[in-house]
Amino acid sequence: MTYQDTQRRYGVISLLFHWTMALLIIVQFMALGGYINEGEHWIGNNIVPWHVDIGLLLLVLVSLRIIWMLSQRQRRPEVHGQGAMQLLAKGGHFLLYACMVLMPVTGILLMVGGGHGLGFLGIELVAESKNEIPWAVALGEWHAQISWLFVALVLGHFAAALYHHFIKHDDTLIRMTAKRFDQS
Ligand code: HEM
Ligand code: HEM
Repeated sequence: MTYQDTQRRYGVISLLFHWTMALLIIVQFMALGGYINEGEHWIGNNIVPWHVDIGLLLLVLVSLRIIWMLSQRQRRPEVHGQGAMQLLAKGGHFLLYACMVLMPVTGILLMVGGGHGLGFLGIELVAESKNEIPWAVALGEWHAQISWLFVALVLGHFAAALYHHFIKHDDTLIRMTAKRFDQS
């Protein structure tokens, strides 16, 4: 198994980016638990307090991932399908990237714009302030809206992966894992 992608499969670096970020993003979706009992439950008390730290880590990861993806563009596997279906898959991947960037950016705008400041693992990055920045809050308010689009995209993406694996029996899911695809 190579570090770089090949035309047949994703390499170790792409696998690490994909699955580490997928896990952290699903953890971030737990913030939707705020709608249940006003967030007063185990997830609200133990997972959601890490939301900003994990979100900032995801911003660093997505920046590195985009650089990596651009460097592997000519090498990595072609998305399966033809015409409209291929366009849908490629458009879906593009929107997933857009959400991975926009979520942390709007989150930061919400926090800084609202005067709450910003910290990472206890290190202060932006100090609290009494002054709100109205334009930053207005843009930051898209955070919740975009999160719903993101959840829908991930569900569609998950369903597409299962469809390829269990119904079409092709290598789409396997090439995003460390396993080899066996035609038999
Ligand atoms: C990929 C990264 C992120 C994802 C997937 C994500 C996801 C979410 C979700 C699903 C919610 C609940 C929305 C709702 O209640 O309708 C939320 C709320 C929130 N997030 Fe994030 N988030 C991310 C990054 C960040 C970052 C980096 C920050 C701050 C620096 C942040 C700050 C907030 C705040 C303040 C709220 C509560 C306000 C609101 O509901 O609009 N998030 N986030
Ligand atoms: C939770 C958040 C997730 C995000 C943001 C995400 C994002 C992406 C993106 C952007 C790609 C394109 C390749 C790349 O640039 O890395 C991709 C490929 C892929 N993802 Fe995900 N993914 C997520 C979760 C999942 C899950 C849960 C599964 C399946 C169980 C999955 C299965 C796949 C497969 C099979 C591919 C390869 C598609 C192909 O080669 O045509 N992903 N994912």
